[in-house]
Amino acid sequence: MKKIVGALVVLGVIGGGLSAFIWAISNNKVVIGYNKGYQPDQPIPFSHKLHAGQYKIDCKYCHVGTEVSRHASVPALNVCMNCHMTVKTDSPWIKQLADAYSSGKSVAWNKVHLLPDHVKFNHASHIKAGKDCTTCHGQVAEMEKVEQVSPLSMGWCVQCHRQPENKAPLNCSTCHY
Ligand code: HEC
Ligand code: HEC
Ligand code: HEC
Ligand code: HEC
Ligand code: HEC
Repeated sequence: MKKIVGALVVLGVIGGGLSAFIWAISNNKVVIGYNKGYQPDQPIPFSHKLHAGQYKIDCKYCHVGTEVSRHASVPALNVCMNCHMTVKTDSPWIKQLADAYSSGKSVAWNKVHLLPDHVKFNHASHIKAGKDCTTCHGQVAEMEKVEQVSPLSMGWCVQCHRQPENKAPLNCSTCHY
């Protein structure tokens, strides 16, 4: 009997601890989060401020399929070469792009945002629900170099899903494999 009670107490402590932990991460009391403020250097200094800001190229011209797929793709070189076949061809960076393009290579862009493997995220459903790129990524069109501005923590996701006007699911299996 003592042993069973002991085991129950231990289970209770683990269970309670787990619920408390899940409560804490859902409510941003403990923010695990991933790399807020992360702003890696890129192999070619591609500027969103110039392309999306000054020249007003639409986000979706380069990030094709964001509204229909899980991932917002990063553009292939042929998208860049649509313009850079003729624009600024004297620049050493553009020469580098053109060389990679003609030899069938790609640019190894460093990823900025990256959720852990156990999390499901889907761009299409958020875009369809009317969320703008800036809601989650901030003013990318003003960034010389992309920076992660949202924590991408569970609390951050759940807080938006909880807003009554969003009618977004809150069960664990929505977001976890
Ligand atoms: C001319 C093409 C082009 C346009 C227009 C463009 N992007 Fe990008 N975007 C890129 C490239 C190339 C990268 C990868 C290199 C980098 O991070 O700068 C990128 C990276 C990103 C990333 C980071 C991806 C990661 O690794 O996490 C985000 C977020 C992003 N873009 C959002 C936007 C938004 C929002 C807009 C519109 C305001 C936009 N982009 C317009 C080409 C473009
Ligand atoms: C719709 C046309 C267009 C597209 C598409 C485009 N660019 Fe550009 N890009 C420009 C213009 C315009 C400039 C400014 C040229 C100038 O300063 O005279 C520029 C400038 C640049 C520069 C600065 C070059 C320097 O030395 O000053 C880089 C680097 C660059 N682009 C990379 C890219 C990459 C990488 C892509 C694809 C992800 C891309 N561009 C797609 C129009 C475009
Ligand atoms: C509801 C929040 C949200 C919105 C709205 C959103 N994103 Fe994202 N974006 C994310 C998250 C979270 C990630 C990281 C996904 C991962 O690691 O699986 C991401 C990643 C990216 C990436 C890196 C490639 C990828 O899919 O992992 C690009 C590029 C990007 N977003 C562009 C955009 C553009 C362009 C828009 C607007 C058309 C947009 N995002 C709207 C949250 C959002
Ligand atoms: C700015 C508000 C907002 C943020 C931040 C947000 N979501 Fe959502 N999410 C929504 C809304 C609204 C829906 C409902 C879309 C619908 O079904 O109409 C949704 C739906 C979903 C769905 C269901 C998609 C489907 O296929 O039905 C998943 C999975 C999801 N979100 C994951 C995440 C994850 C993971 C994060 C954090 C990394 C996140 N969301 C951050 C607003 C948000
Ligand atoms: C709206 C999306 C969303 C929902 C709903 C959600 N989670 Fe999460 N969860 C995340 C994201 C994103 C992360 C990764 C970021 C982090 O660890 O804060 C995460 C991380 C976790 C972690 C791991 C923390 C770590 O150590 O990395 C656990 C455990 C967890 N969630 C449990 C749950 C449980 C249990 C539920 C249901 C009560 C739930 N989650 C519902 C998005 C969600």
